[in-house]
Amino acid sequence: MPTRTALITGASRGIGKATALRLARAGMNIVATSREIESNEAVREEISRAAPRALFVNMDLASPDSIRAAFARALEQVERIDVLVNNAGITRDGLALRMKPEQWQSVLEVNLSGAFYAIQQVLPGMVRERWGRIINITSVVGQMGNAAQANYVSAKAGLIGLTKALARELARWNITVNAVAPGFIETDMTAGLPQQIKDRMLAAIALERFGKPEDVAGAVAFLASEEAGYITGHVLNVNGGMYM
Ligand code: NAI
Repeated sequence: MPTRTALITGASRGIGKATALRLARAGMNIVATSREIESNEAVREEISRAAPRALFVNMDLASPDSIRAAFARALEQVERIDVLVNNAGITRDGLALRMKPEQWQSVLEVNLSGAFYAIQQVLPGMVRERWGRIINITSVVGQMGNAAQANYVSAKAGLIGLTKALARELARWNITVNAVAPGFIETDMTAGLPQQIKDRMLAAIALERFGKPEDVAGAVAFLASEEAGYITGHVLNVNGGMYM
């Protein structure tokens, strides 16, 4: 079996970093991308130690030009990308009544459009190889909704639609497209939430604990594996039973 190469967006911390490390331990070459990962010595060292081969490329998902340039640079150094994990995401929460166009657009751009443009970049190689794994990190709120997150929920629900559309479109080339929907995971993204909201969330989780980035990384690694070849268009919940 060939050594697979996986590109992960938002790999500098949280779920993205845990996923890069997990796929590295599964024997994959890693292309770790984020806005400013090239100068992040600590992350470079950690991922390099775990992966057979690791490459670090700055990529700003808010910019289609940056996405194109980053993939071009990566593909100069690795033959192809077999696995794409669209993990990077941002929140700009606020009530719909007061949401600014910038708040709406920036979240849709990074979380949904950025993922689509990244997918477009890997498709020629995957089609040529007749093999590919695309994994989009959505969210439990894309399934169940959430107040004060109209932008984020729309983007995450959009990712689920994108996953299903492309699962059908790309199946003929043996490319699977799946989504992983985390619940509440302890990362920088959730660290700043008010205690009251955390308490309310915890009360809704059947397993009575928040998730760890590694919980999500394990699910991604399965969907990226050779064994998951007959799974496509699926949304895998990693939410401790918060939503089922
Ligand atoms: P995080 O905030 O800890 O990390 C986000 C990563 O995305 C960082 O590496 C950051 O540099 C990168 N990023 C942000 N904007 C970017 C841009 N414009 N271009 C390139 N990279 C950019 O977030 P966390 O918690 O690790 O989340 C990862 C994914 O999981 C996100 O898509 C998030 O929406 C999703 N998620 C997280 C949950 C949680 O409870 N933490 C729950 C459900 C989904």
